Amino acid sequence: MVKDPKGRDKPGYDRHVFICGHKRDSGSPRGSCSAKNSLEVMRTLKLMTKNAGLNKVRVQKSGCLDFCENGISCVIYPEASWYTLDGSQEQLTRILEMHLENGIIVEDALMDISADSGD
Ligand code: FES
Repeated sequence: MVKDPKGRDKPGYDRHVFICGHKRDSGSPRGSCSAKNSLEVMRTLKLMTKNAGLNKVRVQKSGCLDFCENGISCVIYPEASWYTLDGSQEQLTRILEMHLENGIIVEDALMDISADSGD
């Protein structure tokens, strides 16, 4: 077995954050999270997590999570909490301080796929 260069004794993280970075052509009916600035949001949360010293939390981009219309799509494990990120610093701060640091789900940021779009 190869010794881990970061000194970890087992694989995995306390929390694992996936933020969709998928891109579609403009005009696609489903849209895409990257068109909503998801990669910049992902980089911001990644830096916030690092600055907070949460070295057992991993933030990374994912491919399409298939809830495109409700993106920016984000899921955090192990709780399997699905969020719609609005791209605001305020929301990212709450997710960091509540969920990532203390395991408290940010209820008002959870993805709601029951809403009628009015179409
Ligand atoms: S494009 Fe982000 S969930 Fe599909």
